[in-house]
Amino acid sequence: MPILDEAVAEYTRGLVRHEDDVQRAVRRRARELGVPAIAPEAGLALQLLCRAVGARRVLELGTCTGYSGIWIARGLPPDGQLETVEFDSRRAAMAREHFRQAGVADQVTVTIGDARDILSQRADGSFDAVFIDADKEPYPRYYQEGVRLVRSGGLILADNVLSHGRVATAEGGLVSSSLEAIRRYNETAATDPQVLATILPVGDGLGVALKLGPGP
Ligand SMILES: C[S@@+](CC[C@H](N)C(=O)[O-])C[C@H]1O[C@@H](n2cnc3c(N)ncnc32)[C@H](O)[C@@H]1O
Repeated sequence: MPILDEAVAEYTRGLVRHEDDVQRAVRRRARELGVPAIAPEAGLALQLLCRAVGARRVLELGTCTGYSGIWIARGLPPDGQLETVEFDSRRAAMAREHFRQAGVADQVTVTIGDARDILSQRADGSFDAVFIDADKEPYPRYYQEGVRLVRSGGLILADNVLSHGRVATAEGGLVSSSLEAIRRYNETAATDPQVLATILPVGDGLGVALKLGPGP
């Protein structure tokens, strides 16, 4: 089930003017290989949000072809850095090549490893934004780590939080452990006093949580 009516989704996608030939080629490659990539309108939203909080240090969980990473890297200032984590070394190598083609290789570090291990090795408040797009079952844990890792005023972002609408409609035996984890992610973010959180209905649903600082 699409999140938006297909015609509306096509309409908003048609208004994405910032996807260049390299990004289009990477998205096509993902499609040919049958591997995931965020929707262009979600990529644009990611870049916009990172720019809006003046992000210089961003952590991404789940690199794949590097499609979303290119969107993020292109929103960084010249001294900005994206670290992106992928446990499949062939995908990591492919992404590095795509970052080179996109002209952002100097601003991106692809870390090969399990996101669950890498997260715990990074310091509190060391990122301006964390984008979660790896395996779904640990989403609640990724959220907690995301809140720890971003500074006040930083963002915890997550793809697929509407799961093709299943978060709202699935019941009984149709609720997989992944879907249950995503529901828990959404409920935790919505009720956590440390953040202001919402879901943008772009792509497959983009979770956006702003970490609140001390004071008003
Ligand atoms: C949904 S895809 C990422 C798509 C990418 N963000 C994009 O939009 O271009 C998820 C990727 O995360 C990787 N992955 C899944 N679980 C992981 C984990 N625990 N640690 C590191 N990488 C993981 C998968 O191999 C896959 O390439």
